[in-house]
Amino acid sequence: MTTHTMTEVQGLEAEHVLQVYKRANVVFERGDGVRLIDSNGRAYLDFISGVGVVALGHAHARLAAAIADQAKTLLHTSNLFYHPLQGELAAQLSALTGLDRAFFCNSGTEAVEACLKFSRRFWKGTRTKYVAFSHAFHGRTMGSLSVTWDEHYRAPFAPLIPDVVFVDVNDPVALTAAVDDTTAAVIVEPIQGEGGVRPISSAMAAAINAACAKTGALLIADEIQCGCGRTGTFTYSETLGLKPDLMALGKALGAGVPIGAAMFSNRVAAEAAPGDHGSTYGGNLLACRAALVFLHELDVAGGGGVLANVKRVSAYFDARLDAMKAKHPRIVDVRGTGVIRGIDIGEDAGWVVPAALERGLLVNRTATSVIRLLPPFVITETHIDEALAILDDVLTLHLQEKK
Ligand SMILES: Cc1ncc(COP(=O)(O)O)c(C=O)c1O
Repeated sequence: MTTHTMTEVQGLEAEHVLQVYKRANVVFERGDGVRLIDSNGRAYLDFISGVGVVALGHAHARLAAAIADQAKTLLHTSNLFYHPLQGELAAQLSALTGLDRAFFCNSGTEAVEACLKFSRRFWKGTRTKYVAFSHAFHGRTMGSLSVTWDEHYRAPFAPLIPDVVFVDVNDPVALTAAVDDTTAAVIVEPIQGEGGVRPISSAMAAAINAACAKTGALLIADEIQCGCGRTGTFTYSETLGLKPDLMALGKALGAGVPIGAAMFSNRVAAEAAPGDHGSTYGGNLLACRAALVFLHELDVAGGGGVLANVKRVSAYFDARLDAMKAKHPRIVDVRGTGVIRGIDIGEDAGWVVPAALERGLLVNRTATSVIRLLPPFVITETHIDEALAILDDVLTLHLQEKK
């Protein structure tokens, strides 16, 4: 592969790429497991994994072989015809989520969009209201943006779709009051990812189940960031006892190949008819093959795969983060489980990201004050030690500078 200088890459992008991203000053050219290698040959420990996508690590040999094999066999046929992999993947996801049917698309936001559309389709115009939560993030298309909370994302694109009510994510009583017999659906992230790695409380989970059961409102679980095994169970809804009728999956599902899936109970799916929805690429052979490899490597049933690894390292991660919090009084909270973690420093954490990058660690900052860690599912205790030693160093130096 040709090596590109930073100047060449930045120059072309500055002139021709829509300027919606603030990129760090690094060009990555290769990956290997939990490491990324830049254009100068420097290796970095990747604790963000493409924002929660590269679950099996970079350049995973079996995934790469399967993708190459699929490319040599058949990549894409469209949804005008059958191919052998969609049904197989849908059946496996159905067994893993407890929801009966899948619609395949190409991203998380499209999976949310399908859930929003079919929760309205279910009510045939008799109910249109969505109840969403403060700090929620569900994507950037007009529908998913309409149930996303942050004004910063919403305001430039107003007016968004009407009839969305936001409820304080820490107020189960307000949720109970907001959900009524005009509510088509409640949409919730079991762990708010962009919102600062905040698991919803068990009181809120119980209130959501009760309000949906009482009013008939459908429940959409957005498992795009916290699902697919990231917490040690396939979904975090499972852990919380949430009872979704629809579910959005994405990110880790293709382990780097773009794929999203909206999952439906048969009751909701029964209202769908041919022509109601669709996608040219959705569920093509390449994406389905990658997702099948991911599920195989996850090995939920067998217990020997990367899901077992997430469970194994989770307790170690807990202990190491608790120790770090005890050491740094400025860490106000550590949240999350498995390989989705937030370190809340109670003040703007933007400076941590370049300081960690300089020391060879990739993390990102979300919800202003939270350092977010979304490492690949294959990390070991040694990787955790290495990453937290760098963060410890960064926080310690900063505190000394502040004195
Ligand atoms: C919970 C949640 N929902 C939806 C999305 C949107 O997914 P995508 O960026 O793949 O469209 C994200 C992405 O960060 C997410 O974390």
